[in-house]
Parts: sequence; structure tokens; C-alpha cells
Amino acid sequence: MPRDKAIRVGIVGCGAIAQLHHIPSFLRIKETEIAAICDKDEALLTKVGTKLGKAERYNDFSKMLSQGRLDLVDICTPPQTHAALSIQAAESKCHILVEKPATLSVEEFDRVAETCVRNSVKLCQVQHMTFEPVVIDTLSLVKSKHFGDVVGVDIKMLSRNAAEKAENPQHWCHRLPAGVFTEVLPHHIYLTQAFLGAVEPVAAHVKGSEYQGRIVSDEIRVILEGRNGVGTLVYSGASHKDKVIIDVHGTKKNLRIDLWNSARFEYNVGASSLAWRALENLGQSLSITACTVGVALSVFAGRFHGGHYNLIQRFVRSIRNGTDAPVSIEQAREVIRVLESITRQIKTNVKP
Ligand SMILES: NC(=O)c1ccc[n+]([C@@H]2O[C@H](COP(=O)([O-])OP(=O)(O)OC[C@H]3O[C@@H](n4cnc5c(N)ncnc54)[C@H](O)[C@@H]3O)[C@@H](O)[C@H]2O)c1
Repeated sequence: MPRDKAIRVGIVGCGAIAQLHHIPSFLRIKETEIAAICDKDEALLTKVGTKLGKAERYNDFSKMLSQGRLDLVDICTPPQTHAALSIQAAESKCHILVEKPATLSVEEFDRVAETCVRNSVKLCQVQHMTFEPVVIDTLSLVKSKHFGDVVGVDIKMLSRNAAEKAENPQHWCHRLPAGVFTEVLPHHIYLTQAFLGAVEPVAAHVKGSEYQGRIVSDEIRVILEGRNGVGTLVYSGASHKDKVIIDVHGTKKNLRIDLWNSARFEYNVGASSLAWRALENLGQSLSITACTVGVALSVFAGRFHGGHYNLIQRFVRSIRNGTDAPVSIEQAREVIRVLESITRQIKTNVKP
């Protein structure tokens, strides 16, 4: 791809995630230009289009593909549409960035992947939480065995947004194979895989086990097991605020990441005397303070970039340089495979 030419991006789906993260990220990446946007909702298209100025507007995806002269298509529509839109984009020789979950089944994923390979285009599923600065940094410490061998990871996601979606019976999340859980669990799955490698779900419990034409519960717990350790996934839609907490258990040290606040601290590092416990408390406070000051300084300096930006920028560079995408096709497929397996277990447990 010529270096002097901006990568022409077409965004399909101008809803919440496009406005919150994708559009602001592309606007900050010099090598790209948002050439076109597409949404079926005309009012939304006008609202977002007015803010973007010169981006062409389409209410029809096929038209955007045939007229937009695009290099990269960014898919921010509901998951039910991802496979068909990805296949169309790949057949039009466009690289693809697609929100999670890239597809609703492995069978769909393989069709998308085959189309991408046949058309020599890249596919990247958005797994942005592994590209949050605090996670990037922690994963490099894991690689250097700072925590010893990682034998466990517990990921807890408390959500207000997903709960709002779940409360609306018309929301597209209810037409997903495992309802709102299909929407949220990909985050837990790819984070667990980043720390533990390949995992299999061995148990899934949905509170209430109710089914009224859709899964109505917003509480789920899942256990994943891998060759190197065990992971637990907690999702609660009953929270008044969003929060993601990741506990990493190593043979030498334990670590807690507060992803939402970009903070982390180690625990269980000293002896168990009262003095050590007090020191540990102080150490934790200092770590959190150091993280807070570090983030504040980089925000003020305009150098703080969140996970979406970091992932999208790496993907753009991979297109530009002909190198590997930041999330490989194999990694994305593993997320879909585990998600499909969890879905089967949920469906067995939920009483009709
Ligand atoms: N990574 C994250 O943290 C995160 C957070 C929220 C949502 N998401 C993902 O992003 C995707 C979109 O979620 P959202 O909350 O932004 O949804 P949304 O409902 O707010 O927006 C989706 C938009 O897509 C449009 N649309 C649907 N089908 C279309 C089609 N065929 N052609 C053109 N436009 C079409 C709709 O009109 C709507 O405006 C989902 O896959 C979701 O799982 C990711």
C-alpha cells in the first residue's frame, strides 16, 4: 500500500461504539481518512455525517462498497450482521476491522476467514481490552515470568450499559444465541486466553435459569480450564456503574488490575506478619497512586491512548506494512469457538 496515500476507511454502523471509540480513533490516526459512513438509520447518518463533514454518507452497504473506493471497512453493526457484511467487504477487496463477536458461530467464521484469505485481505476482530495500556504492560511482565507461572485468572465485569440493553426487550442483543451474554463474554474470553493460552469452558451457570422467549437473567459465571491454569468469568448486569477487574494468579505473585481506572497492584508478596500486611496495604496504595499520576500526566500530555485506539492503530500499520494483524484470524476463531461452546452449556442449563 503506497505510504503517501491515506487509507480510505468506510464505517458501517454509526451507533454507540462507532461514535464512542471507532470514529474518534480513526480521526486521531494520521494514516487514515474516514472516507464514508453507512447506517440504515437516516437520522443517525445525518447526525454523525454532519459532525464528520466530508465523509460520504450511505444508507446501503453495497453502495458504499461499490462507490466508496475503500481500503478498509470497519464493521460496527449488531453481531447478527457481521458475517454477511464481512464476506461482502472481503469480496470487494477491503481489509476488515470487525467488532466482537466477529461471527455467531465457528461455521460462519470459517466462511468469513476463507473469503478473506481468497481475496488477500486482513481481518481483525476488536479485542480492545488486551490493548489497554495497563494490560499491554502486564502481559509483558507475564512473558518475563515476573509473576512466576500464571496458574489462574479471574475476570469480573460489572456493567450498566449491557444491563440497559438487556432491559429493552426490542434490543438486538436478545436475538443473539445467548442473549446479552453473546455480546459481553467475548471480552472475558480473549482476556483469559491472553493470560492462560487455550482454554475450554467446563461449567456455565446463569442465575435464575429463566427463559421467556429470551434469556432474561443478567448474571453469569463461567469456569474455563486450560493446560496451564483455570479462569473464572463473572458478569453482572446489575451494577450501577461499569467496572472490569482482572485478578492474575502467578506462582510467585498475585496481581489485581482495575481496567476501568487503569490501575493495578500486586498482593500476597511478603510474609504474613501484621507488619508485612500493613506494608502490603501501603504498597498497594502507592501502586494505585503511581498509576493514577502516570495516567493523568499522559492524558494531560495528549499521550494516553485507550485500547480501541491502540488496536486500530496497530491494525492500520499492519495493512500499511504488510505485517500480521494485532489479532490473528486464529485468535479470533478461538474466541468464537469458546463462545459457541459456552452458549451450548447455557442453553442446556436454561429451562424453557
Ligand atoms: N468493544 C466494546 O467495548 C463494545 C461495546 C459496545 C458494543 N460493541 C459491539 O459493537 C457492535 C455494535 O454495537 P453498538 O452498541 O454500537 O450497537 P448500536 O445498536 O448502537 O449501533 C448499531 C448500528 O448499526 C446500524 N445497522 C444495523 N444493521 C445495519 C446494516 N446492515 N447496514 C447499515 N447499518 C446497520 C443500526 O442502524 C445502528 O445504528 C456490536 O458487535 C457490539 O457487540 C463493542
